[in-house]
Amino acid sequence: PRVAVVFGGRSGEHTISCATAAGVLDAIDRDRYDVLPVGITRQGQWVLVDDDPDALRLNDDRPPVEITTGGLGRGELAMRLGGGSLTAITPTGPQVLGAVDVVLPLLHGPYGEDGTIQGMLEMLGLPYVGCGVLASAAGMDKQVTKVLLQAAGIPTAPHVLVEPHRWRRDKDAVLAECADLARPLFVKPARAGSSLGITRVEHLADLEAAIEAAREVDPKVLVESGIAGREIEVAVLAGHGDDAPRVAEPGEIVMDAAHGAGEFYDYETKYLAHDAVAMVCPARIAPESRELLMRRAAEAFIAIGGEGLTRVDFFLTPGGEAIVNEVNTMPGFTPFSMYPYMWQVSGLAYRDLVTELIELALE
Ligand code: DAL
Ligand code: MG
Repeated sequence: PRVAVVFGGRSGEHTISCATAAGVLDAIDRDRYDVLPVGITRQGQWVLVDDDPDALRLNDDRPPVEITTGGLGRGELAMRLGGGSLTAITPTGPQVLGAVDVVLPLLHGPYGEDGTIQGMLEMLGLPYVGCGVLASAAGMDKQVTKVLLQAAGIPTAPHVLVEPHRWRRDKDAVLAECADLARPLFVKPARAGSSLGITRVEHLADLEAAIEAAREVDPKVLVESGIAGREIEVAVLAGHGDDAPRVAEPGEIVMDAAHGAGEFYDYETKYLAHDAVAMVCPARIAPESRELLMRRAAEAFIAIGGEGLTRVDFFLTPGGEAIVNEVNTMPGFTPFSMYPYMWQVSGLAYRDLVTELIELALE
């Protein structure tokens, strides 16, 4: 089958999406699949990209990778409606690329992980890997995620919603409501990823500036109580044919401030400070915690209406409560990413994981 691997995109996680694509292009079974790498520029143009994982990897020795029409991209790409056929509109004229059997949307963040490309692919009649429109949109929005999880009885951190109209109308009331939350506070754009736009706030005097910073990423903002607990992530994988979602061994994010970890698992700590974080899988936790986390991860996946894959991120409190921090319907697949690692530890190699996801979409 022909697989269009789509990455880059309009979100702040553009470079991370390229790094994810590098991992997948390295691992995908070339005997089985014919691969068509398709980049999306930060402006939203679709371009054909050389099949060269090295050009897409995170690399501290060069500026962040960016898909552009004249650089990594070799020409604009337009999608022709119907028949699953792709046509590249190149500078020298249209070039029919032929049938595409399945799309692997390796996009993180808005315009990719949020139901938009999923909706477009539904309209085009092209099968694609991962969650559908609703689960993607719900998983992208941290507040909507909470509503769905709470309705399913799954605990999440207490929060105040900073909705744009109310913020404009009655900033003081919003700030007063936030003052009732246990500190530290975490101020988060509702729809972003990789910790972009997130600030940890100790003192209320810093709250307004943190909200304004988050609002630059998304006008909808959440102010949450920080949960004291270990950060445990759980990988879920499920297809239409599965009786129940499959769950990998939980993994723990262990941060080491002495080696450059930030005050929380922020963007720099995630991707730039390579010695600052250890991914420990299986997490060294009590059997009853393992069981609770794995059960809750599957429940969270079902609560958002997940398909294909999702990574559910938890705080495991000292009292043994498993509180969902967020869900990621297209989790990172970089070499520093937990999702493929947890499956590898659980007996599913990276290449087989990619095959599994593509075959699920083709079912
Ligand atoms: N949003 C990043 C890519 C993750 O969840 O892994
Ligand atoms: Mg995320």
